[in-house]
Amino acid sequence: MQKNCIILASGNGSNALNLINKFYMSKTGSGLVNISAVVSNIEGAPVIGKVKKNSPDIPIFTIPFTSLSERKLFESALENIIEKYKIKYIILAGFMKILSKEFVSKFPYKIINIHPSLLPAFKGRDAIKNAFEYGVKYTGVTVHYVTQEVDAGPIICQEIVKIEDSDTVESLEAKVHKAEHKIYPVAIEIALTDGNPQC
Ligand code: GAR
Repeated sequence: MQKNCIILASGNGSNALNLINKFYMSKTGSGLVNISAVVSNIEGAPVIGKVKKNSPDIPIFTIPFTSLSERKLFESALENIIEKYKIKYIILAGFMKILSKEFVSKFPYKIINIHPSLLPAFKGRDAIKNAFEYGVKYTGVTVHYVTQEVDAGPIICQEIVKIEDSDTVESLEAKVHKAEHKIYPVAIEIALTDGNPQC
């Protein structure tokens, strides 16, 4: 049975678009994932224009949330959308704000995040740059459930990315994004089929 999902994104939207193209436009995969709506917390974020152009039928909402004082209003507006569209899963795709513990606790194992490192290494912002500057030889991508502790929930899927001597931060970013686009749709299907591990 199809499960309605909402995507939350703050920025460029390459992951949001990749998921929409896979699950909504080309309807590939198991048919479990139904992308019902997209929410951005940033007015004018590139993801908004990209989704509108790529898939004008998908409802897209902007709910301002840049400072902590806006979080309560953001979460309450988001909950209304979740109710209206009968959302079962919340997919964070480059969503760069931290949801409150109260909000997260209402949706156990229903919020999924992608992070551009092999967690628990390089939590937080600028994970790709931090891994590059640290000098690790391997980094990667982690898809995990969101819990009250940031970047620490149970891991659904990971993909390793090797850092070559010839890499720059930019080339590493491109490699990490490529890995993200490969594993995020797979990880979401795993999560929605109750964790059958094939990743
Ligand atoms: C992605 O690399 C994603 O893993 C990262 O933001 C980028 C968004 O790119 N997310 C985080 O760092 C969350 N802590 P996109 O807007 O092109 O999808």
